[in-house]
Amino acid sequence: MDTFVSQLMSRMTLEEKIGQLNLLPGGDIVTGKEMDSPLARLTAEGKLGAVLSLRDPVKIKALQQIAVKKSRLGIPLLFGFDVIHGFQTVLPIPLAQACSWDTTAIRRGAEMAARECTSQGIDWVYSPMVDIALDPRWGRIAEGSGEDPFLGSAIAKVMVEGLQGNYGPENAMACLKHYALYGAVEAGRDYNTVDMSHVRMYNQYFPPYEAAVRAGVGSVMSSFNLVDGIPATANPWLLNDVLRRQWGFDGFLVTDYGSISEMVVHGMGDLATCSAEALKAGTDMDMCSNAYSTHLLQLVKEGKVSEADVDQACRRVLEAKYKLGLFQNPYRFLNSKRAKTALYTPEHRSLARDMAAETFVLLKNEGDILPLKREGTIALIGPLANDRSNMVGSWSTADKPELYATLKEAMERAVAGKARVVYAQGCNIYDDSATQANCSFGRPIPRVDSRLAEQEALAAARQADVIVCAMGEMTEMSGESSSRADLNLPDAQMRLLRQLCAMGKPVVLLNFSGRPTILKWESEHCQAILNVWFGGSEAADAICDVLFGDKVPTGRLVTTLPQCMGQIPLYYNHLRTGRPVAEGAKKYYKFQSNYIDVRNDPLYPFGYGLSYTTFSYGDVELSADRIARDGSVTASVTVTNTGKRDGDEVVQLYIHHPAAQIARPVKELKGFRRVHLKAGESRRIDFTVTSDMLKYKDGNGRDILDAGDYDIMVGPNSSDNALKKSTLKL
Ligand code: IFM
Repeated sequence: MDTFVSQLMSRMTLEEKIGQLNLLPGGDIVTGKEMDSPLARLTAEGKLGAVLSLRDPVKIKALQQIAVKKSRLGIPLLFGFDVIHGFQTVLPIPLAQACSWDTTAIRRGAEMAARECTSQGIDWVYSPMVDIALDPRWGRIAEGSGEDPFLGSAIAKVMVEGLQGNYGPENAMACLKHYALYGAVEAGRDYNTVDMSHVRMYNQYFPPYEAAVRAGVGSVMSSFNLVDGIPATANPWLLNDVLRRQWGFDGFLVTDYGSISEMVVHGMGDLATCSAEALKAGTDMDMCSNAYSTHLLQLVKEGKVSEADVDQACRRVLEAKYKLGLFQNPYRFLNSKRAKTALYTPEHRSLARDMAAETFVLLKNEGDILPLKREGTIALIGPLANDRSNMVGSWSTADKPELYATLKEAMERAVAGKARVVYAQGCNIYDDSATQANCSFGRPIPRVDSRLAEQEALAAARQADVIVCAMGEMTEMSGESSSRADLNLPDAQMRLLRQLCAMGKPVVLLNFSGRPTILKWESEHCQAILNVWFGGSEAADAICDVLFGDKVPTGRLVTTLPQCMGQIPLYYNHLRTGRPVAEGAKKYYKFQSNYIDVRNDPLYPFGYGLSYTTFSYGDVELSADRIARDGSVTASVTVTNTGKRDGDEVVQLYIHHPAAQIARPVKELKGFRRVHLKAGESRRIDFTVTSDMLKYKDGNGRDILDAGDYDIMVGPNSSDNALKKSTLKL
């Protein structure tokens, strides 16, 4: 690769090298008129390296032909796309996928996504998104793996491996994003500022990025936000010292959309200055700022950036194209047979359906109302009950809603004539039409007359034995630029839900959401709550699989569910403070760290989720009570399925470090195992606890390993009373 790229670069002009650093949107390409489009002209002149968001294989091929046949050196283009959770077969949103704790399924999902998008000519995907997020007001929490760095790292790794494989013809190059700390925007408001200590970065936010880099991710996207007061896109410490030197990243780094232009708005100087700063800091490709293409030539002439800096960036981009096999065959991902047959296949649909069913989290199931019996009358009520395009979740940019079932259709199919389904929309998403319009973004849900719709819903409910409410968020209420200041069920829906609950019939709430929402009232008044997130193209059938008990719920929360807005941010792996209040405390303590009006505990903790069966845990046994500085011990626990149904349990291992040089969280996830247990079956689960797991980082990224006593805890979720504990000495 080195020789090939060096030889190619020796023939390139400075303008052509700069051209490789230019990424523009493909929106203006019109089939048959490619040669007339500005993009085509830039391509032919060798002034474009990659294209964003083009997904028609005919257009991609036409543009690639221009690059190969008309540009002086015939360097192929990269075609990038946001393949975040599947493609035409849409998988559950990443936050939901994480709730499966099933890294095998997540890897398979990534493989499937790559298989589908590469069949359309897309060879570069802006995924995985691994930003740790503690504030559910931030809509992009939907795109990541939640609040935990250990789980997030495990998922980042399998996502990269699944997408990239060995760069075969059905693999795409992954792009890790958003480096770094984007999930920590203040007040959960998208694009807002970020400020945090290096200790926190290294221990809580960096691990998933590092895991993806160590898994060999081919490219990285910088984030919009500041890091230490400098935009990530031009931050030499972040990009060169940490990413490349400490972690060994050897791929190319692209900005997010318009990030170099945004540096001007951040107040870092004019576009020429910002271009120079970004390039020198290690940003190789400019996404849609037209900054490098406009300014780099002049900056080199003026000696403000060196040609060596341009060469280095160009080399990295060319290497990516080489790894993808584009120099051997620029049309490698343009196989017309695959283009027609690879999308939304029965295998992909079945994978998506299975995965979706694994992601739903059963939060409450009073009196075992679930699974529902296929008998009597079921009232299916709510604005998400009969909608085709709002169950997929944000960034479903290649979806085809006309192919997907609504929940009503799936439920009618599932009951197979044995029960009667009566449906009513019942309400709007929001009473305020302007607020609802803010989250429609191409996926509107019809507005109804609230009074009439409520009456219709109540009439339907009166006929029913059980009421199933499909409520919550519509797709674009989470995702990019979808921050919410109030995470309660919107007014219109809440009003209807209250009336339905007042009828005294069992109410099952299916909560659609791309984030943790506030479910306090619901948890007190509904008989059952199944959090179904956004389950993708097969969500409707998958929901019915779980509702009617063909599958047992297995999802476990990867974000803490707060009781109320004022507790946010609330996460399980918090630091202790000097005045802590014990978990589970029932009252307020003056001069301690708590609130006057609400207890500190979450409504549902990280790791929590019910099943249709029950599990019990034996004590934690350690193979030794002491661990060497470079040693390991085995922590074992026996888990028993004490219920009447087979089911999956997610066994979780946490550690706690009581005395350290730098304050450590109250507990940290360090292992998990998803196990299938038959009714009545017991199994001994072994975790290897290594001394590496007891290490943490200082503010320079150096490892610290303290002597002392560590709590080793195993259980079904992160709350103290759910965990069995043992002590390990180092
Ligand atoms: O990949 C995305 C990113 O997550 C947000 N801004 C636009 C990029 C490209 O579409």
